[in-house]
Amino acid sequence: MQSLEITVIGAGYVGLSTAIALAMANHRVHVFERNLERLQALQNQCIPFAEPLLEIALQAVQDRIFFTANLAKALESSSMVMLAVGTPPTPAQGVDLSQVFDAVHQLAPYLNQTPRVIVLKSTVPVGTSEEITATLKNLAPNAVFSVSSNPEFLRQGRALRDAVFPDRIVLGTSQTWALEQLEMLYAPIIEGKIQVPPELEPFRPTQPIPVLRVSNASAELAKYAANAFLAMKISFINEIANVCDATSADVDEIVSVLALDKRIGSDFLQAGLGYGGSCFPKDTRALNQLASKSGYEFRLLRAVIEVNSQQRFKALERLERVLNGFRGKRIAVLGLSFKPDTDDLRESIGLELSLELLARGASVVAHDPMLEQMNVKSIPTNTNLEMCLTDADAAILVTEWLEYKNADWTELGKVMKQRIILDGRNALPKNTLLEAGFSYLAIGRNL
Ligand code: UDX
Repeated sequence: MQSLEITVIGAGYVGLSTAIALAMANHRVHVFERNLERLQALQNQCIPFAEPLLEIALQAVQDRIFFTANLAKALESSSMVMLAVGTPPTPAQGVDLSQVFDAVHQLAPYLNQTPRVIVLKSTVPVGTSEEITATLKNLAPNAVFSVSSNPEFLRQGRALRDAVFPDRIVLGTSQTWALEQLEMLYAPIIEGKIQVPPELEPFRPTQPIPVLRVSNASAELAKYAANAFLAMKISFINEIANVCDATSADVDEIVSVLALDKRIGSDFLQAGLGYGGSCFPKDTRALNQLASKSGYEFRLLRAVIEVNSQQRFKALERLERVLNGFRGKRIAVLGLSFKPDTDDLRESIGLELSLELLARGASVVAHDPMLEQMNVKSIPTNTNLEMCLTDADAAILVTEWLEYKNADWTELGKVMKQRIILDGRNALPKNTLLEAGFSYLAIGRNL
């Protein structure tokens, strides 16, 4: 299989995981990162954020991956340039494309007669690759290039696994030569000819990875559609859980019934406090805005977003009723990262609930297994779980870290003032907690 020389612009979650996966696929990868602190960490083989397996994988591909802040050097002999920079939300819930276009402007002077495929990895609104093409044609009229859309579907906490064993690869381009290059790039991943850390071996697919060859516009929209659909599953099951709470049905039993319907499947039906993180909240809002700007009102998506933003407070209100108000009560908030196995605080439900509790007169102490990496200033925290629970009137489990699932709740219950727990992720051993004398509140769990 042919080894390519490529450049990845941006060493965030997507850029770095992709770069490492492509180096594992035997390509030579130059990673351009303009943040010098991040760059230095990477040059010292350190991953600048918490993500399982990336560091081990990086060590294994040292001879094929190069980190630099010198774009000319990064592009010298690359036939492909991946744009993997952030596309954060704007204050008006649109998509901030400034990092994408900054990269495009920086790239333009280095494009020439050598054909280059420019691959858009970042999540961007429909039409962005067309806009990049127009910008580059203007900035570098004689350059030979093609802009392709190749969205990434990886999940934080399992980024490497999703990058080396993706469910599918989406190649959005209208040009055959660009498609051929992309197929060459992904060949080792498509055919499973890639060495992975032993922890990932059990997940190795038995069949080649499906490749979807689509238009740029479809590739761009497919990423939003996938995230919106998954977000819809979560909001849907949260609504069902709320109906369970209003009746006497049990959401776990309902999921066991739904999951066996092959048309529904079992994934993303975990009821709880709703979705957070860097993708679902921003991408659902961006798709909603994209639809309305295009003249279409996406009513279902609006409901998904609304259900999600209210879900966390619905649960809080139940706890407030049980406690007869929050004023003067001490509440332990367990989990600040938006999901386990990451230190990412973007759209953190734990932070938002803590601020709301403070506003309602409670005193709050928050805990997270990765608290030390998080630099949380806006709320009181404690790195020790037992100390966090000491004298608490109630605990709220916000993120289902293993540390909370495996904790000795019988012992921890003894240090609390009142043994009341709101299991916001339906993740704790309900019977153990009941036996330990806890009042157990969860989301639609009525058995
Ligand atoms: C998501 C998509 O899964 C991924 O394909 C895309 O590329 C980026 O966005 P990520 O945000 O890393 O990935 O995490 P994910 O595991 O999807 O969880 C997102 C949020 O949904 C978390 O807050 C999680 O707690 C919540 N969630 C997930 C639920 O509440 N219930 C579920 O059943 C699943």
